[in-house]
Amino acid sequence: MDLGISGRVAVVAGASQGIGREIALGLAREGVDVLAVARSAERLTTLAGEVTALGRRCHVAAVDVSDRTATRIALDAGAAVLGEPTILVLAVAAVYRPEKLQFVDAGRTDELLAVDLRSQVELCQWALPHMMQARWGRIVGVGSLAARTGVAGGALYAAAKAGLEGLMRGLAVDYGRRGITANVVAPSLARTERLVARIAGDPDHEQKLERATASRRIPEPREIADVVTFLCSERAGAITGAVVDATAGAHLNNLW
Ligand SMILES: NC(=O)c1ccc[n+]([C@@H]2O[C@H](COP(=O)([O-])OP(=O)(O)OC[C@H]3O[C@@H](n4cnc5c(N)ncnc54)[C@H](OP(=O)(O)O)[C@@H]3O)[C@@H](O)[C@H]2O)c1
Repeated sequence: MDLGISGRVAVVAGASQGIGREIALGLAREGVDVLAVARSAERLTTLAGEVTALGRRCHVAAVDVSDRTATRIALDAGAAVLGEPTILVLAVAAVYRPEKLQFVDAGRTDELLAVDLRSQVELCQWALPHMMQARWGRIVGVGSLAARTGVAGGALYAAAKAGLEGLMRGLAVDYGRRGITANVVAPSLARTERLVARIAGDPDHEQKLERATASRRIPEPREIADVVTFLCSERAGAITGAVVDATAGAHLNNLW
C-alpha cells in the first residue's frame, strides 16, 4: 500500500532510541524527511546516517524538550533546512521510574510533567501553524495503556498519558476542518533496548509479561512504529481523536 506521504517532512520527538527511533526509520522508508529530536547528539547522528542511507534527509535537533526556548530555536532551524513539517510524532518520555506518589519529589514532578506532557503541548503549538499553512497535518502521540489501567508506581506517568489522550482529542475537534488529524497509539510494552536490559537473565519475568497479553508476546518497537506510520499517512485521514491500542491484547481481560 502506498501511504501517500513521500516528500513530506516529519518532526519525531524522542527519535534517538526505542520506539521513536523506529518511527523515524519507518517514516523515512515511506519517503519522509525527518527532523529528529532528542538530547543525545551521538545517537541522533547515528540515526541520521541510517535515514540518509534510506535516501531521505535527516536534520538533528539535539535538545532537551523541557527547555521550551531552546526547543523552538532548534525546531525553527530544522524547518528552515527541511521545509514545512506536516507530520508530528510525540514519542518522547522521561525514563520511567516506579515510585508511589507520596514519595515523588517536586523536582521529579516538574521533570515528568515537563517532558511527558508540557513539551508535547508546546511541540503541537509549534507544529500547528505549519500544518494549517499546508491545510494538511498528522499528529500522533505515543501514549500508554497505563492512561486507562494505571500502573504500579506510575500515577504521575498515567496522568501525563491520560493528558496526552485528552490533548489529541481536543486537537482533533479543533483542527479537523483544516485537514489535520490527531491520534494516540497506546502500547503496553515494547521490546525496546531498555526492556531487554530489564528482563535479561530473568525468563520468569519475561514469561509473566508475555502471559499478560492475549497473544502471549511482547510487541517489537517496529510493530508499534508501523501503526504510528500508518496514522501519519494520507490513507489514515478518516481516523482522528482515536486511541489505538498496540498491546498484543494486554488491554483485554486475560483472566478467563
Ligand atoms: N517501551 C515500552 O514498553 C512502552 C510502553 C508504553 C508506552 N511507551 C511510550 O512510548 C514512548 C517511547 O518509549 P521508549 O520505551 O521507546 O522510550 P525510550 O527508549 O526511553 O526513549 C525515549 C526517547 O525520548 C528521548 N528523551 C527523553 N527525555 C528527553 C528530553 N528531556 N528531551 C528530549 N528528548 C528526550 C530519549 O532520548 P535522549 O535520552 O537522547 O534524550 C529517547 O529518544 C514513550 O512515550 C513511552 O512512554 C513505551
